[in-house]
Amino acid sequence: MPDRPIRVLFVCLGNICRSPLAEGVFRKKVMEAGFEDRFEIDSAGTGQWHVGQQADARMRSTAKMRGVDLDDIRARQMDRDDLYHFDHVFAMDRSNLHDALCLDPDGDHSARARLFREFDPEPGDYQVPDPYYGGHNGFDNVFNIVERTSEAILDRFREIYGL
Ligand code: 4NP
Repeated sequence: MPDRPIRVLFVCLGNICRSPLAEGVFRKKVMEAGFEDRFEIDSAGTGQWHVGQQADARMRSTAKMRGVDLDDIRARQMDRDDLYHFDHVFAMDRSNLHDALCLDPDGDHSARARLFREFDPEPGDYQVPDPYYGGHNGFDNVFNIVERTSEAILDRFREIYGL
């Protein structure tokens, strides 16, 4: 059992759709389980375009309809220090994972960086599709993926950290 919070970072490209949703959904699950003191939870984007912005309005409205409030989240860009600070880095797609790991080419950071959907109980291609240029069902689809995968990740943390 670590004597400090377990640090979890969700990463996508813009930090306005997929990773803020994962942050909000995972945070809600952690709170419902009564583990809020046990985790530090954040999200970031590998790109800089949307830094400082709220999550995409379509993502916020999909999340709100399903009980998750993303209004307080502001986009930030991931940097190399994140790979040292966080224990677990979950990338939404392969390109995000590649870009995150390129921040520290020597690879001597402490984070365990992997694809978020490695934990998805349903079969797929291990990537959360980018909904940014698509229609509304893209956001519902992303919510469903993020919801079930976040649950599975929390279950895994219960096992490995004995929560
Ligand atoms: P996200 O979605 O990576 O899930 O936040 C995107 C948001 C913005 C852009 C691409 C993806 N963009 O190109 O601006």
